[in-house]
Amino acid sequence: MATDIHRPVSTQAGPAGAQNAHADVVTACSGAQAASAGARVVHAAHVEGLTRSFDGRAVIDDLRLDVRPGEFVALLGRSGCGKSTLLRILAGLDRDIEGTVLVARRTAFAFQAPRLMPWRRVWRNVLLGLPGKPERARAKQALTEVGLDHRLGAWSKTLSGGEAQRVTLARALVREPDLLLLDEPFGALDSLTRIKAQRLVGELWQRRGCAVLLVTHEVEEAVLLADRVLVMDQGVIAYETEVDLDRPRDIADPRFAELRGHLLERLGVDTAAEAARTPPAPRERSPSRRP
Ligand SMILES: Nc1ncnc2c1ncn2[C@@H]1O[C@H](COP(=O)(O)OP(=O)(O)O)[C@@H](O)[C@H]1O
Ligand SMILES: [Mg+2]
Repeated sequence: MATDIHRPVSTQAGPAGAQNAHADVVTACSGAQAASAGARVVHAAHVEGLTRSFDGRAVIDDLRLDVRPGEFVALLGRSGCGKSTLLRILAGLDRDIEGTVLVARRTAFAFQAPRLMPWRRVWRNVLLGLPGKPERARAKQALTEVGLDHRLGAWSKTLSGGEAQRVTLARALVREPDLLLLDEPFGALDSLTRIKAQRLVGELWQRRGCAVLLVTHEVEEAVLLADRVLVMDQGVIAYETEVDLDRPRDIADPRFAELRGHLLERLGVDTAAEAARTPPAPRERSPSRRP
């Protein structure tokens, strides 16, 4: 993994903001910060003193965050607290910031809406935005990883929601990221498809060894998948905890329930009411053990 090579996210607006807004992967940009970042950096992402304001209101306010190479981090927080804003900044899609943001040069992302081009075939969507003339075989390899190689030549508009989301994952994987940013990638999926997609992400992470920063509003998903869970509030990482449970994780494990309850409390959820409402989830949700 080339996690020692980082790019800074500029504090100024990017030179091609509109173009970047549609880019899947952000490439390195040069500048004074790049020189200072030239030293080996031991994080897949390093954020310090990050502030992002909208209309004079700081949504992110002096935030600090480090993601270690190969680490799976889940980010929770109430709706509107700035999770997507943070991910967009890390993805290089928003550069109107103050502070230091360094991310692995090979950073890729998948967001909730698949954003596929319906008039293009699946494999072309996977390769979209890659430099040069990447071969179809590269798309096939990534699609095989997400179990969709049989849909290689299909039109994107014929895919189901779950398939489209897997294509988005393949599009991120084909870039061989050292840091994978996922913003509620399962949010629009039905519960069964969601369970399969969660398991897939766990497997891909184990196989690839890349760092993952997953934004989710599902506490259980965070505890199932992550090495460390963060809670964002008031513009900062207000709380974090390691998930010190063996994989595959068992939601019936009392320590799992304890951690889940603790995080729900941190999020201000009435855990008694929540317990009464939520049926127990199926056990096969656990990702397999990390090699
Ligand atoms: N481009 C923007 N212009 C103005 N306000 C924005 C913009 N993007 C996000 N916000 C505001 O920033 C806050 C955080 O948004 P967001 O990061 O999407 O929250 P989350 O993903 O945690 O639900 C919200 O109040 C949202 O309205
Ligand atoms: Mg969001």
